[in-house]
Amino acid sequence: MTNTEQTSVLITGGNKGLGLEAARRLGEQGWTVFLGSRDEGRGREAAAKLIAGGANVVMVPLDVTSDTSVADAVRLVQKHTDRLDVLINNAGAPGRIVAPADATAEEIHSVYDTNVYGPIRVTHAFLPLLRAADHPRVVMVSSGGGSFAVVTDPEQPVSKMHELAYSSSKAALNMITVRYAQALPEIKFNVATPGEVANHKFAATDMNRHTGELTVTEGTDSIVRLATIGPDGPTGIFVDRLGPVAW
Ligand SMILES: NC(=O)c1ccc[n+]([C@@H]2O[C@H](COP(=O)([O-])OP(=O)(O)OC[C@H]3O[C@@H](n4cnc5c(N)ncnc54)[C@H](OP(=O)(O)O)[C@@H]3O)[C@@H](O)[C@H]2O)c1
Repeated sequence: MTNTEQTSVLITGGNKGLGLEAARRLGEQGWTVFLGSRDEGRGREAAAKLIAGGANVVMVPLDVTSDTSVADAVRLVQKHTDRLDVLINNAGAPGRIVAPADATAEEIHSVYDTNVYGPIRVTHAFLPLLRAADHPRVVMVSSGGGSFAVVTDPEQPVSKMHELAYSSSKAALNMITVRYAQALPEIKFNVATPGEVANHKFAATDMNRHTGELTVTEGTDSIVRLATIGPDGPTGIFVDRLGPVAW
């Protein structure tokens, strides 16, 4: 068993990008990091780098679109701990940018499977371990593109990016988070977007072919903030690294 005195966190999609950087930062704070990765090889490589830097990391094979994979992940985490302090639902799929007129249910389904059903699958499966923690927190990694206020603001570039799948999946994730927060006050459920919404900035990762202007460290500021809130901290809020984001 892992040292249960340490704060524990499971991060989905932890093998690269913002998930990996969140793992590095929380590992640096002495947390036990369960690093989720749908590809075992990529996950082992990422975990090995963090372990070499002194972090306490357990690689967890985890494909958020698979019930079997999620159930196996719960069993693996249970071998190390009887509680989970923090869950970061970070794994996300951008989908192809398809014009709304050409979007099909099938195209949208694959994005929802990762961005909407994925966080529900993982959250539902890990609820018993989260409930066993003194001060459990769930961070949903969403996007400014999931905000009605942002998408309907003509000053925001995303208002002119015509697609259905990604933005609507993140809008659904936002509502799901609020509903969890209302129904489960014993767990803090909050939403982080990695960008700076007011400045139209996002973080450079593979998802945007590294076109973002923020570093992955800056991109994870909001995620780390919500992962580390205290027992008196908020639930049901939506923030970026600069502060609150309008729904
Ligand atoms: N970068 C930004 O500024 C920005 C802005 C808004 C929102 N976001 C959100 O931030 C999160 C992280 O994205 P990123 O920018 O770090 O992109 P990234 O580098 O492409 O990382 C995405 C991660 O999600 C994983 N993933 C995808 N499908 C998965 C599945 N079915 N099961 C498990 N893992 C899966 C990927 O695994 P593989 O390596 O196996 O593909 C990868 O680890 C996403 O939710 C994204 O929507 C990012």
